[in-house]
Amino acid sequence: MSDVLRVSIQPLVESDIDEVMSIERQTFKSYWPAVAFINEITNNRLAFYFAARYEKILVGYTGIWIVLDEAHITTIAVHPEYRGKKIGEQLLFHLLAFASSKGSRWATLEVRESNQAAQNLYKKFGFLSVGIRKNYYMEENENAVIMWAGNLRGENFKLKLQKLKEPFDKGESDFQEIQPS
Ligand SMILES: CC(C)(COP(=O)(O)OP(=O)(O)OC[C@H]1O[C@@H](n2cnc3c(N)ncnc32)[C@H](O)[C@@H]1OP(=O)(O)O)[C@@H](O)C(=O)NCCC(=O)NCCS
Repeated sequence: MSDVLRVSIQPLVESDIDEVMSIERQTFKSYWPAVAFINEITNNRLAFYFAARYEKILVGYTGIWIVLDEAHITTIAVHPEYRGKKIGEQLLFHLLAFASSKGSRWATLEVRESNQAAQNLYKKFGFLSVGIRKNYYMEENENAVIMWAGNLRGENFKLKLQKLKEPFDKGESDFQEIQPS
């Protein structure tokens, strides 16, 4: 198992956006403009975004839309210099626990067919590939894989999350668990 860098995860705020944009530019060919993030965190009541910090550095972020009992993961990214240290895992754990605490039963997302790292991360959390959106990423003419996980509030999923959380439970940690309501 790779090293674990324990991070503190908090809601994303406007003052985080410069650091988010630096990661966006280094990560995605077609990245979101800053205004899209600002709009998400200030105007979209269905959207929830979180930032992971190691010491004072913003090392990753993720977001979700919660519509009735479905959660749609909109983005997740880790700073290129901090990848492979279980930060993506901690972010996804936090996001799914949050979604479950808000009443979500299902989670879904789109991911590039070529993005094996992200697909592996999602599979670790029980996501399954359930379909393809042809040419979803039009600029690169690439398909999206649709992935889906459920039941977020069921015993099996809770046990899976518990198992995934064990490495973060060892020693001192800022890692926070959200108790499902
Ligand atoms: C996908 C991403 C968020 C993963 O974050 P990370 O902190 O590097 O990943 P973690 O260290 O938490 O790894 C968790 C699991 O993800 C998978 N994974 C992560 N990096 C991987 C890689 N380079 N190759 C294959 N699988 C990988 C593995 O299953 C890993 O578990 P393991 O260590 O037990 O094998 C990160 O690579 C990233 O920011 N990529 C660019 C942005 C992106 O593609 N976002 C997804 C858009 S849908």
